[in-house]
Amino acid sequence: MTEQWAVQATGLTKSYGKVRVLSGVDLQVASGTLLALLGANGAGKTTTVRILSTLTPADGGQATVGGFDVLTQRHQVRRTISLTGQYAALDEPQTGLENLCMMGRLCGLSGAGARARAGELLERFDLVDAGTRRVSTYSGGMRRRLDLAAGLVGHPSVIFLDEPTTGLDPRSRQTMWAVIKDLVASGVSVLLTTQYLEEADQLADRVAVLDGGRVVAEGTVPQLKRDVAGERLDLTLADRAAYLEIEARLGTRAAHRDPTALTIGVPTDGTGAHVRALLDELDPTRDAVARFSVRGATLDDVFLALTGQPASTEKEPAHV
Ligand SMILES: Nc1ncnc2c1ncn2[C@@H]1O[C@H](COP(=O)(O)OP(=O)(O)OP(=O)(O)O)[C@@H](O)[C@H]1O
Ligand SMILES: [Mg+2]
Repeated sequence: MTEQWAVQATGLTKSYGKVRVLSGVDLQVASGTLLALLGANGAGKTTTVRILSTLTPADGGQATVGGFDVLTQRHQVRRTISLTGQYAALDEPQTGLENLCMMGRLCGLSGAGARARAGELLERFDLVDAGTRRVSTYSGGMRRRLDLAAGLVGHPSVIFLDEPTTGLDPRSRQTMWAVIKDLVASGVSVLLTTQYLEEADQLADRVAVLDGGRVVAEGTVPQLKRDVAGERLDLTLADRAAYLEIEARLGTRAAHRDPTALTIGVPTDGTGAHVRALLDELDPTRDAVARFSVRGATLDDVFLALTGQPASTEKEPAHV
């Protein structure tokens, strides 16, 4: 693909009944890069992905994928992309191999061509042994991998991944991350939605944060950390009483709270003057703070600063 932008959207709006979900979403994915779209539950991530992958029409705005208009050139867009949804769509009674062969035939490959491509993908996704078993016997992580593999049968140049690792154990998540990194390295463009900030940190060239129906921040991870959250003063309090007292004093200014570890984080510019002033303000009697450290903001801090709510760290598995 020679287009500079694999995905380009401007002013996307969408309402369901009276509920306005998107009120002017602008975003771009440069070719051969990965954009992570972050947002709390219900922020409109899946809605955005559905619009860009031609499954749902927007009420307003424009979008192109691979240079094709998602409204007027739906067929070209569909031939360019693959979509791996929040919930895997696989044929349960069939084996992994059969699922992939079926996708191959749907993509116009010959029987032999489809089998060859299926074999190649099973290997790449570490599913060779499982390939001859019915999908209904697969674990959540195996399903996710097979689902992504199924999307790659037709060599898409743009891939949409809607929460590809939600509910996976850390090891399956690592496998998935390695596969996604490989894809991007091979020149594929990816728009990935996630609630895991670590995932964005690991994979994304750029991050866009969706809140209140708009993209409220966009940039590289280091840029966002620097621009939005600066640095953080982490205080370890002497005891529970001290923790509660300082927590009450800080109120909504706290960027991070961990009552078990008795630590609280406060945004700072990192200068000696500011840190000293904060310590004096929060601990005038000089006995509440046991230890402190100043460090660069995390993506968690960015998320909290932009959306006013902490990112969830775990969600219910998609398959129970
Ligand atoms: N088909 C629909 N009909 C009515 N409301 C919908 C529909 N699809 C989504 N919504 C609403 O739109 C809002 C955004 O939903 P969306 O699925 O895009 O959020 P999300 O960011 O993907 O959330 P999650 O992190 O939970 O997957 C929610 O309030 C949801 O209830
Ligand atoms: Mg969603």
